[in-house]
Amino acid sequence: MALSNASCVTQLTHIRGARVLVRISANVPLENGVVQNHFRIMRAIPTLKYLEHAGAKIILIGHIGRDRGETLRPVYEALKNHIAVGFVPGVVGDDVAEAVSKIEDGTCVLLENLRSHEGEVANDDEFAKTLASYADYYVNDAFSVSHREHASIVGVPQYLPSYTGLTFKEEYTQLRTAMKPKHPSLFILGGAKFATKQPLVARYVDTYDHIFIGGALANDFFKAKGYGVGTSLVSDDVTHAAALIDTKKILLPVDVTVQGPGEVRVTTPDDVQADESILDAGPLTHDLLSSHIQKAQSILWNGPLGDYEHGFDTCTKSLVARIAESTAYTIVGGGDTVAAIESLALNGKFNFLSTAGGAMLQFLERGTLPGIAAIEDTKKK
Ligand code: 3PG
Repeated sequence: MALSNASCVTQLTHIRGARVLVRISANVPLENGVVQNHFRIMRAIPTLKYLEHAGAKIILIGHIGRDRGETLRPVYEALKNHIAVGFVPGVVGDDVAEAVSKIEDGTCVLLENLRSHEGEVANDDEFAKTLASYADYYVNDAFSVSHREHASIVGVPQYLPSYTGLTFKEEYTQLRTAMKPKHPSLFILGGAKFATKQPLVARYVDTYDHIFIGGALANDFFKAKGYGVGTSLVSDDVTHAAALIDTKKILLPVDVTVQGPGEVRVTTPDDVQADESILDAGPLTHDLLSSHIQKAQSILWNGPLGDYEHGFDTCTKSLVARIAESTAYTIVGGGDTVAAIESLALNGKFNFLSTAGGAMLQFLERGTLPGIAAIEDTKKK
């Protein structure tokens, strides 16, 4: 069932003075307490501007990190540059309720990290009720977290009329486009843990003309082929990869960048030594992908081709440059993948950049998410 337009925040009109609880994607990278990447923050702004303009009292909620001690204050500092917002250093209690009661029409307050309260991840009903008690309406604009059955995602919509935000709606619409690509089509999947990605690959192997498997995912295929993968990141059990090894539509790196005790070198996947680790693809792989990119009418990409976080970003970045030149319809997601695009200032060359990583993959695999089902259910009341 498709999420209807009736679920979008734009259905909320005549809401001057109404209290709206907005769940945003606030999980952004920080360094020394300063936001390093503003992509998710900028994507929160359209819904907030809509509600601000409508005169709503906006209560913003979000999470950051996985440590209960982390604070959303840096996100507040970043948001201040775009909207009138205050910060409340808590999520429950009298002080929070009082601060919420004093919000003026057309302004926002951001509450503290939802995960500072154990009820968020536990999807505790009392916690969901408390969050819901702050507002008249709920808006989910956190597509990237909507694969989590957390209180702010699936609990609150049980207690408030609930809607999707503008960015959420766009994520949903764009990713549905990716489910029916124009041909020739290319799906590039990087990252790690193939067993968790196998159902996704199985679903799209007939839909896409080629699926390129990169990053540590490819190591599972190399191991399944009987190649030594040295000290590379690889799954213990590679039966999921083994089952797809002879699938012609699946493309793998044809060369790899490895590092051992000595120099970094480029070699073939069957020549990795016991003390070496595969950390990126190589130039021949780049050429192979380039030829597919040039022909493609649609490209879907999630996950880097190498150990991006540790500086093995050559192939990922050269792939960004090639896709940016292509005339295909391009949809990209995943934190590192989007960061690579942003680092080259090529955002404008892509049709859609998702704020989501894991949620994007789960949506592509299942066609829905717990956060979507929660919004659909709220409408049935
Ligand atoms: C996100 O914010 O990107 C997602 O919620 C993933 O973070 P999590 O794995 O900590 O939920």
